[in-house]
This record gives sequence, C-alpha cells and structure tokens, in this order.
Amino acid sequence: MSVLVTGGAGYIGAHIVRMLEKNGDVVVVDNFSTGDRDRIGDVDAYELDLTAPSAVAELRHILSKHRIDAVIHMAALKQVAESVQHPIRYYRENMQTLAHMLEAMQAESVPMLVFSSSAAVYGNPKNALVSEDDETTPVNPYGASKLTGEWLVRDVARASSIRAVSLRYFNVAGAGAPELADMIPANLVTLAVEALESGDVPQIFGDDYDTRDGTGVRDYVHVQDLAAAHIAAVDYLRSARESYSVFNVGTGQGASVREVLTELSAVSGMPFEPRVVGRRPGDPASVVADSHRIESSFDWSPTHSIRDMVESAWAARSCAQADSD
Ligand SMILES: NC(=O)c1ccc[n+]([C@@H]2O[C@H](COP(=O)([O-])OP(=O)(O)OC[C@H]3O[C@@H](n4cnc5c(N)ncnc54)[C@H](O)[C@@H]3O)[C@@H](O)[C@H]2O)c1
Repeated sequence: MSVLVTGGAGYIGAHIVRMLEKNGDVVVVDNFSTGDRDRIGDVDAYELDLTAPSAVAELRHILSKHRIDAVIHMAALKQVAESVQHPIRYYRENMQTLAHMLEAMQAESVPMLVFSSSAAVYGNPKNALVSEDDETTPVNPYGASKLTGEWLVRDVARASSIRAVSLRYFNVAGAGAPELADMIPANLVTLAVEALESGDVPQIFGDDYDTRDGTGVRDYVHVQDLAAAHIAAVDYLRSARESYSVFNVGTGQGASVREVLTELSAVSGMPFEPRVVGRRPGDPASVVADSHRIESSFDWSPTHSIRDMVESAWAARSCAQADSD
C-alpha cells in the first residue's frame, strides 16, 4: 500500500505520516508554508505549491512514480479569523489545491481519497449532538471552503472511479511526540498553553451558558486518534460500497472550558484560576460530535482522554520553548 499525504509536514499530517510509515510506503507533498520538514525525517517529500498551474503535471508524475493507491489530502489554510480577513486567499488555496489533486488522481486512476474537512461546515449547529445529516451552514470563509471542497469531492467521486470520504474533524488537540506539536495557537488548548507560558492567566469567555458548569462544551479529539482515523478510513475505502461518504471525527463526549483548564492547571505545575470574561459573539453553548457513524463503519474508536491531550500539548510546547531558548 502506497499513500500520498499532501500537507504531510503539517501538525496533523506529520502524525499521519509517522503512523503510515509503520505500515507501508508514504510520500509527502507540501509547500512548507506552515509545515516543517523536520517533522517528517527522511520520508520521501516533494516541495510543491499545489495551487501552481504546473501542479497537476507534477502530481501526475509523483502518483505514477510511487504507484500511489490512496491520497490523504490535508494541504490547506486553516485559520478561521484569517479567512474572514482574506476570503479570496482561503477559497483559492483550499479549492485549487484540492481540484489539482483530484485532476491528477483522475488522470492517473488513483482510486481512493481521504479529504480533511472540519466541523466548521456546520456553523452554529442547532443540536448539541451534531450528526453528519444535520444542516451545514458555515459561518466563515474557512468553513465554507471546506464545505465547497466536500461538494467537489462528492461530485468527482460520482463522475469517476474514485472512492472518497470527507472527515469532519472536531477540536483537535495534543501531540503524539513533542516535535510534532501544533505551533499555530488557535484552539482552547493551544491558546491556554501559550497564555500560561507567557505569564498570562488563561481566559474563559462566558460562564453563564446552559451547560453543566456554565462554560462552553466542545468535543476534543487527540491528534493520535485522529491520525488513526485516517488509516482506518483508507482501510474502509478498500471495500467501500458507496462512492462517497462523510464522517464526523470526534469522541461523542464533550469537555467544558473549565474542565480543560483544570487539567492544564494540574499538569503544568503552574496552578491558576482562569479569568472569566464576557461571552464571545456567536459562540454556541455546546458542540459535540455524534460519532456513531464512524464508530460503526470503521475499525476505530478514540482511546485518549482530555488529560492525555492537555498533558501532551503542554509537554510539547514546553519542549519547543526549551529548544528556542
Ligand atoms: N488543526 C485543526 O484543528 C483542524 C480542524 C479541522 C480541520 N483541519 C484540517 O486539517 C488539515 C491539516 O491541518 P493542520 O492543523 O495540520 O494544519 P497545518 O497548517 O499544520 O498543515 C497544513 C499543511 O499544508 C501545507 N500547505 C498549505 N498550503 C499548501 C499548498 N498550497 N501546497 C502544498 N502544501 C500546502 C502546509 O505547509 C502544512 O504543512 C487542513 O486541511 C485543515 O483545514 C484542521
């Protein structure tokens, strides 16, 4: 089995690459814009901007040379706030990279694709437990670019022999090894770790929600469990009857902001009382994945706890800090 991972030098991609290395051949394509070559050691890697007009020809060459069976397409821009500022850039980057990849796959008859999507496609969900069949109404250009990407994947799968799945990740956290850590602070865990490291007290945006402790509840999935879900997705595609399916990747369990910060206070050795400030506009009270579909279709279930996520994120960032000192 030979797998190509685009964006394989990124945070999530590098975890997948490390897992795939144990099972077969893996090849990475990345422009190293946010990815880091040091994350992937001596894996075969091609530096390529997937938005470039020449990318299809270069991808075709790589797919054919390495006899690729499956593609895991991770390459994308992922920062919600930035996408609001630069929508054209986000649509162009996230759509063109995908369109070029699909075009090359079709031309080289590569049969399987796993596409990185996001719970951002749901926008502000109506139900606290979000199922794949719920309405998709993204509320920012990043989420819209992922939903449009899903539609493109679905339509190409219908029109060709490619079988594909979109994986809608919920809140990804943690690190499988310190050198693989997420270096772009954008979610509660990474932002809280960063705040603590820089001598600030992590904040809670609103403690008057209708949740068990009043703070927002989200579904956190450990990046190692997420990586394993990609391996399981490729296995699923080998015998899939549907040409295209969508899966949530979450645990089905929510953790509140206060619970996550309590774990951080414990594992960091820097006990703190979070500062409670006002709600952020548009933040839903609770968003948790209905994870029945993935758990009943794939040979996969999450194995890591919130403590694992917070502990590994803290250990990884402390390590990165030590390296840069
Ligand atoms: N991290 C999360 O919480 C999260 C949640 C939901 C979905 N996702 C999706 O997962 C994927 C990976 O996210 P990540 O957190 O690892 O981000 P990341 O920024 O660490 O990784 C993205 C990788 O894609 C590469 N890349 C970007 N544009 C490229 C281009 N034009 N050509 C070639 N390579 C390019 C980057 O260099 C980087 O290595 C993305 O598609 C993202 O939208 C991430």
